[in-house]
Amino acid sequence: MLLVTGAAGYIGSHFVRHYLKQNPSAELVAVDNLSLGNLLSLDGSCNSRIHLYKTSLGSMDAIAGIFDAHEIDAVVHFAANAYVGESQIKPFKYFENNVVETLKFLQVMLAADVKQIVFSSTCATYGNPKYSPLNEAHQQRPINTYGSTKLMIEEALRALSLSSQLKYAALRYFNAAGADTSEKGSEIGESHEPESHLIPLALAAAMGRSNQPLKIFGSDYPTKDGTCVRDYIHVNDLAEAHCLALKLIASADFNGDMEESANSGVAINLGTANGATVKEVIAAVEKVTGKNVPCLAVDRRPGDPPELVADYSKAKAVLGWQPQFNLEQVVESAYQWELTRRY
Ligand SMILES: NC(=O)c1ccc[n+]([C@@H]2O[C@H](COP(=O)([O-])OP(=O)(O)OC[C@H]3O[C@@H](n4cnc5c(N)ncnc54)[C@H](O)[C@@H]3O)[C@@H](O)[C@H]2O)c1
Repeated sequence: MLLVTGAAGYIGSHFVRHYLKQNPSAELVAVDNLSLGNLLSLDGSCNSRIHLYKTSLGSMDAIAGIFDAHEIDAVVHFAANAYVGESQIKPFKYFENNVVETLKFLQVMLAADVKQIVFSSTCATYGNPKYSPLNEAHQQRPINTYGSTKLMIEEALRALSLSSQLKYAALRYFNAAGADTSEKGSEIGESHEPESHLIPLALAAAMGRSNQPLKIFGSDYPTKDGTCVRDYIHVNDLAEAHCLALKLIASADFNGDMEESANSGVAINLGTANGATVKEVIAAVEKVTGKNVPCLAVDRRPGDPPELVADYSKAKAVLGWQPQFNLEQVVESAYQWELTRRY
């Protein structure tokens, strides 16, 4: 059985739904302390197949009890704090929650003889791009504490894979976006508090739900219209990549990245290779909603690279994965969620 940490969060809940649909007889264990996320995101047709535990990853006795109670073969690890700005103001919160809690969890997981893990990493581990699109060989020099904490766990996994039987995939997501639209209406979607992501913020501005115009941070970047370029990847495309990564690391001949012979882990970018500027995202939101997005140009934010776009050729080669949603479809799905959101 699979154990999913951070299952009640945005990406975790989409993965849970996708995985249970793909595996109609499967059950899974969901672990979340509900510091963020929402229980309603795990509500739905499949919830009788979810064994939910409300606990923190660092509660080693509770986690050991969960590994004792279920036969776990693999872990998908989403749980973390993921606000770049907050990580600069409260770095120790991020070291504690993203690093210390994860290391405690890994210790219990390995003691329970569970040897496969898919880890949510991020393009924020790369830092300022030296070239674009970014491939996995790009240097990793994070420029914020959030990115550093994710890199620390990538390093811990690499070290553990050299000293134990651990097999892992570190999936470096670019900007997760959109909502599940595979059923009638959008039952789950993005709901962060506070929200810091561009698409939900632009939708809120278009729909008159925000009492402030949408802030555009920096209009003088060396990009085609002066605003930052990001790579928006649909959350269901991410979910599918996790399913494929689980199969990859479970396969008997998995050896990880070839350049390090003793290492049995792999790092893979997940993005679309199509960057969109902030202004292009706003235009897509205006097209989809038919409404104007009130905007305000303000200064750059420190730590925002001009452009972050994925080269996903490794995901294609290693996982047989490629994104199915373009920007307009991402925005459309996010809009459908905003129209009906339950949480
Ligand atoms: N959203 C993005 O664009 C993006 C991009 C790159 C990487 N990521 C990574 O993907 C993962 C999921 O992101 P998200 O947007 O779904 O975040 P989210 O905040 O929606 O979900 C995180 C979930 O983890 C839980 N959690 C946090 N710390 C915990 C702990 N110590 N013990 C148990 N549960 C805990 C929270 O309650 C929440 O439900 C994170 O690891 C994040 O760093 C996200």
